Amino acid sequence: MAKNVAIAGVTGAVGQEFIKILEQRDFPVKSIKMLASARSVGKTQKFKGKDYPVEELTESSFTGVEIALFSAGAARSRQFASAAVKAGAVVIDNSSAFRMDPDIPLVVPEVNPEDIKKHNGIIANPNCSTIIANVPIWPLHKANPIKRMVVSTYQAVSGAGQAGMTELFNQAREILDGKNPTMKKFKYQIAFNIFSHDSAIGPNGYNEEEIKMVKETRKIFHCPDMAITCTCIRIPVPRCHCESINLEFKDSMTPDEVRKLLEHAPGVSLIDDRANNRFPMPIDAADNDDVYVGRIRQDESLPDNKGINLWVSGDQIRKGAALNAIQIAEKLL
Ligand SMILES: NC(=O)c1ccc[n+]([C@@H]2O[C@H](COP(=O)([O-])OP(=O)(O)OC[C@H]3O[C@@H](n4cnc5c(N)ncnc54)[C@H](OP(=O)(O)O)[C@@H]3O)[C@@H](O)[C@H]2O)c1
Repeated sequence: MAKNVAIAGVTGAVGQEFIKILEQRDFPVKSIKMLASARSVGKTQKFKGKDYPVEELTESSFTGVEIALFSAGAARSRQFASAAVKAGAVVIDNSSAFRMDPDIPLVVPEVNPEDIKKHNGIIANPNCSTIIANVPIWPLHKANPIKRMVVSTYQAVSGAGQAGMTELFNQAREILDGKNPTMKKFKYQIAFNIFSHDSAIGPNGYNEEEIKMVKETRKIFHCPDMAITCTCIRIPVPRCHCESINLEFKDSMTPDEVRKLLEHAPGVSLIDDRANNRFPMPIDAADNDDVYVGRIRQDESLPDNKGINLWVSGDQIRKGAALNAIQIAEKLL
């Protein structure tokens, strides 16, 4: 049955992707509300050929709304999600506001769709890097439990929103024109440079993005004791995160077994062409639904073939955010 939908944060990178995916997947929309900050009032948003006014997100935005897709930042989710729930909507939230709340399901549909049923009005969408890692490793974990995972991320600038992408393009232009790059969104130069992820660093030296990978994966997999460590890096790529993933399994696991398990795994595509040195790249993943996996190798530092190395690339605005949320909404239908 068609639903009354609202998008909070429609003018942002994830909000724009919501629009695209609702259209592409022909999600049954009865009505749609376009919500953003007061700054965007006066703009219009096209959906299926029709123009809609962008309205200011307020507590009274949700009358009659059945599904509220939130991507306006954690502060707005904390402020407005309860108003949406009170109005009768199910909130699917892209921010970090509710992810670690034990009473709120944190869902990757390929991994733990059964958790959706436990919701009390809010379902959290995991962090983008977490989703991109979780989709391909889940089928492996089901076949042979993962004891330890070491992840290094290479994260696109659009993970920091539209402003991140604008900053990369502007700085590249400035540098090529012989000018000094302007730093607005990021503290350091991102064009022709990389730096440690721009989230806050905790007392143990890990940044928030790294902690999210650890805690969220454990929650989604229902494995509170899984050993996970992570290093998150920002790279000058507009779109799509890449990750190097090292896995230690309980029992032996060969690259051929991994290939077989991933060949038909939902949400996964293999690009693993050693002869041509051709493996997943952001330009493969951009605007696509799947997480691309390659460089499947035995970790020869571990005994008894118990270790595997993978390289993955996924569109973090799409599967890492908007698509994952809409797949959750489809399950709700
Ligand atoms: N980008 C990604 O790859 C990604 C991946 C996973 C999760 N997320 C999460 O998704 C959320 C949105 O990210 P984004 O990348 O789309 O950011 P963005 O491009 O910066 O967009 C932010 C959106 O939030 C709206 N907003 C900001 N302040 C607001 C306010 N006071 N009231 C109402 N709306 C307000 C903005 O509206 P205006 O245009 O009117 O300012 C805009 O629509 C964040 O929580 C982020 O962590 C992002």
